Amino acid sequence: MRRIVLEGRGDFGEWREAGRALAAAGVPPEEVEWLEKGGDKQLFWEHDALPPQPAEGQKQMTVPAAFIEVASAVICHSDPIRFSLLYRLLWRLQPDKKLLDVISDEDVSRVRLMEKSVRGDAHKMTAFVRFKEVGSGISMNGRRKFLAWFEPDHHIVAKTAPFFQKRFNDMDWIILTPKGSAGWDGQKLTISNEPCEKPNLTDAADELWRTYYASIFNPARLKVKAMQAEMPKKYWKNLPEADLIPRLIANAESEVLAMAERQATRPLPFHDRLQEAAHNLPTQPKAPTGTLEALREEAATCARCPLHARATQTVFGEGPSNAAVMFVGEQPGDQEDLAGRPFVGPAGKVFDQAIAEAGIDRATLYVTNAVKHFKYEPRGKRRIHQKPNMGEVKHCRWWLELEIELVKPKLIVAMGATALASFTDTKLRLSEIRGQAIPITDGRLLFVTVHPSYLLRIPDDVRKEEELARFTADMRHIKHLAA
Ligand code: URA
Repeated sequence: MRRIVLEGRGDFGEWREAGRALAAAGVPPEEVEWLEKGGDKQLFWEHDALPPQPAEGQKQMTVPAAFIEVASAVICHSDPIRFSLLYRLLWRLQPDKKLLDVISDEDVSRVRLMEKSVRGDAHKMTAFVRFKEVGSGISMNGRRKFLAWFEPDHHIVAKTAPFFQKRFNDMDWIILTPKGSAGWDGQKLTISNEPCEKPNLTDAADELWRTYYASIFNPARLKVKAMQAEMPKKYWKNLPEADLIPRLIANAESEVLAMAERQATRPLPFHDRLQEAAHNLPTQPKAPTGTLEALREEAATCARCPLHARATQTVFGEGPSNAAVMFVGEQPGDQEDLAGRPFVGPAGKVFDQAIAEAGIDRATLYVTNAVKHFKYEPRGKRRIHQKPNMGEVKHCRWWLELEIELVKPKLIVAMGATALASFTDTKLRLSEIRGQAIPITDGRLLFVTVHPSYLLRIPDDVRKEEELARFTADMRHIKHLAA
């Protein structure tokens, strides 16, 4: 048995060096015991020497990029099992490069849960760090100085510090945590693994922050469950605004009633025209036979539901009639409605970039939507996207089924909950089946991922980047499934 002792403070390089050397020397996972420096067991054991790294020119081991991505997050987890779990996966990946796709595998599902927990912790750190100004105003270098305290579950300080450097570049700051600290002085980002003690940080700025929080709290948009999920109680003790929350929630209902009374009522825009269109629905168009072109022509005059009344045109799918992969979005947006083509607006740009990074040529794909008309609400000169309801999705499913019948794709990719609802009437949660290849009728596979416009709406930069990387990883998976 070899005993490998690591610092274990989220340093991926440290584990990678050891893992590589052991695997290259053919040391199987069951012959390695991984210990964390300072841990109970480590006090009794010495670190065994690593086998020499493979010399240049000697056969190097390879792992899929997805493993590096997942391992560099999981290495930050605080569970000591992470080292051996990652090494076992590294070992098992050598003969089976697709192992990470097998989400029913115990090691894979465990590592994915750990990855999720680390990413969630990093996200919470970006959301709940509250800086307090320290010292008397401007410092020697002309910059103001701030201090913050945070209690992460995992070793995420080094991973998350660049976010704060970017966001709070023009001030000096230090973030202290029981798992180390990060500091920025305008020149250098300093990371330390030394555990810190909680400083006493209550000051007058807390009152300002609490006043601000209470004034931006909108009772009409209150969703208690979502709020509890986003801001778990364990973070409250370090948030100056936390003790206001119970009162704000308790008063929300009466506040909303008071707000409603202050509002004048207005007729719904386009109400009459929509009603008329709904009552004058023509009988079902006949099912066109033959080609996609004939189907497209028929769909151009579709009036199966009231949505056609306000849209500029039907936005039908596009792509080769024998495409192996069909992507299904929600409905055309503002720009798609004007251009008459799917995914050419901002969400289309995100989509194009992710597939390009995954090495997929859009010209080989059939790209369409669950609903073929743009649904929106006019607001001044702008048209604000509105989610299609289940009735509209069901009406339009008729076209989608004909598109599938003609194109006969091997793989269908549903992007977002509306596209998913096109394929199933049960309320499956997207997050539960994301990333899996699910067999459906006629030997096809259905792959579910998020909608690209969801990525555009993520306000937090770090999370946005993480979710973009996850979406791109889904595209790579799709490429592999379609091959
Ligand atoms: N969103 C969609 O779902 N489809 C498009 O075509 C554009 C944006």
